[in-house]
Amino acid sequence: MTDLLGYQGRTCVVTGAASGMARALTESLVELGADVYAIDRVASNVPGVTRSLVADLSDKASIDELFRALPDTFDAFFGVAGLAGVHTSFLDTFTVNFIANKYITDRYLVDRIAPGGSIAYVTSAGGLRWEFPEIRDELTPFTAPERSWDDLVDLTARFDEEHGGELAGFVGYMLSKRALNLLVAERVETFAAKKVRVNAVLPSMTATGMLGDFAEQRGGLDNLKAASTGPAGRLAEPGDMAKALVFLGSDLAGFISGVFLDVDYGMNALELAGINPMRTRWTFAQSLAKQS
Ligand SMILES: NC(=O)c1ccc[n+]([C@@H]2O[C@H](COP(=O)([O-])OP(=O)(O)OC[C@H]3O[C@@H](n4cnc5c(N)ncnc54)[C@H](O)[C@@H]3O)[C@@H](O)[C@H]2O)c1
Repeated sequence: MTDLLGYQGRTCVVTGAASGMARALTESLVELGADVYAIDRVASNVPGVTRSLVADLSDKASIDELFRALPDTFDAFFGVAGLAGVHTSFLDTFTVNFIANKYITDRYLVDRIAPGGSIAYVTSAGGLRWEFPEIRDELTPFTAPERSWDDLVDLTARFDEEHGGELAGFVGYMLSKRALNLLVAERVETFAAKKVRVNAVLPSMTATGMLGDFAEQRGGLDNLKAASTGPAGRLAEPGDMAKALVFLGSDLAGFISGVFLDVDYGMNALELAGINPMRTRWTFAQSLAKQS
């Protein structure tokens, strides 16, 4: 039978593999015959992986050590790890969700992904509307290729100060997901020149390790379910996101790059059609001024 997905014998790197979507993804990739390097801040313990590596994505030195331990080249990188921003600071949340992924992309993936390979990031439905010019203008300072890790940390601290200081972790979450979407779009040409595709998956609310944090932030699980259950009539499961990621990294998606895949069973479509209100159509300047 033709191997339409093409993972057999391919080398894949997955971040966040100890839990949730990335764990489900890692299990699927192992089943499909890939050699998987499972990365997390704790041991991933997924049976069948080639190697489980512990790395802290909030720490540049730990990322550098990680990339010394990974193969010189690999075929697919799935950047899934993230923080909900409910129990972490604005800076810590932004660092893991965005600064780490930008650093990995610009410092390592550019040279380490083999031609024909793929990068897929998990951003969020919370990062929708990044493409509107007035929203994008707030993000472009963060995505410039020349920005070093330290520059980005300084810039993030300044963003906090400019908006009154002590921004909540969840603001860091929204900023990070918007910025990562923009980064994907901006890097399409760089990676196309190397025959590498780069895409994003934007999940709706999913029953993973993060669900408790999101429920706490939204006044309990019942409130969260009422606000986040779309046409599917249920929250997403980790496997729903894993399947979309498996697809984007596979040969079936061989001509797909720069795509922002809403895995939300139509929730964003309802907003685009004007059937439901567009929830995230605000700039940080507008939204944070209102709160202060
Ligand atoms: N669950 C949702 O409703 C939802 C919705 C939209 C987007 N997302 C995004 O999906 C992605 C996957 O999250 P999940 O929902 O599977 O949650 P999860 O909490 O189950 O998994 C996140 C994983 O990231 C790892 N991680 C966190 N900080 C790290 C660090 N500093 N270094 C290394 N690993 C670290 C955690 O240990 C964990 O294994 C995240 O980027 C999240 O923002 C989740």
